Amino acid sequence: MRFEKKDILDIDSLSREEIAYILDTARGMKEISQRAVKKVPTLRGKTIVLFFQEPSTRTKMSFELAGKRLSADTVAISKSSSSIVKGETLRDTVRTLESMKPDIIVMRHSSSGAASQVAKWVQCSVINAGDGTHAHPSQALLDMMTIQEEKGGFEGLKVSIVGDISHSRVARSNIIGLSRMGAKVNICAPGTMIPVGIEQLGCTVARDMDACVTDADVVMMLRIQKERQGSLLFPSEREYACLYGLNPSRLALAAKDALIMHPGPLNRGVEISTLVADGEQSVILDQVTNGVALRMALFYLVSGGSKNADSN
Ligand code: CP
Repeated sequence: MRFEKKDILDIDSLSREEIAYILDTARGMKEISQRAVKKVPTLRGKTIVLFFQEPSTRTKMSFELAGKRLSADTVAISKSSSSIVKGETLRDTVRTLESMKPDIIVMRHSSSGAASQVAKWVQCSVINAGDGTHAHPSQALLDMMTIQEEKGGFEGLKVSIVGDISHSRVARSNIIGLSRMGAKVNICAPGTMIPVGIEQLGCTVARDMDACVTDADVVMMLRIQKERQGSLLFPSEREYACLYGLNPSRLALAAKDALIMHPGPLNRGVEISTLVADGEQSVILDQVTNGVALRMALFYLVSGGSKNADSN
């Protein structure tokens, strides 16, 4: 198979075969980060712009490291240090960036659809690093890579996603991707955080958290996104932790070898207890490790690489 996509904008536009191909490629990339010299010449001469208009630790760092490990030149621009603060429009900003001839723009933006819009304005590749509440494709792909690594595949796997679904681009991308790969996705949240019609993405909605996590093979917890909530959508953090937090007694309802996942950053003591987050079943830091390999794979594939070629 040849990977033909120029942009990675969401999971919806990736077929089952394309997702499998990206995951295979990422598995091959992972070993590079375990070498003493963590660098291969694969993308030497390529330029990658990291354009993040929202804060990020994991996504920005791992895209930057991914580019550097493939020998691309990476440059970062943030909203606060750019001429956007002087009133420059998004279109003028990205067309200005493109005039400097980057090969790939990685962008995070607070508005849903921003990355797709930018991809229409520029000729170079665009990778969506999270747009509003819409999509976070590289996060869902690294989550799928972690699940595949631990569980061997997706068919029939019971995945529970719990938390602030309505504001979560990670939840949307994972529901679409995991159900496309054959997993059964069950979600749970307070009624105020479940968007109408979410089932159409390919999931079921559980009535309460205990029902949602019972026998689950994977429990993915989501952060309460206070920064996107106009008014608080639940009475108190204490009550939220009681009804929707993952603690050891709730974890005992899941399959014995269930994986605990979280895209980060964590609200410890709210959606997840420290005992669970740092416990033996947690793969939260493995998700972060896989993020570098997965993003190396995305850079490689949108640059015209193929899975079987030697990346050195
Ligand atoms: N998971 C995630 O997107 O984390 P950051 O906001 O730290 O990039």
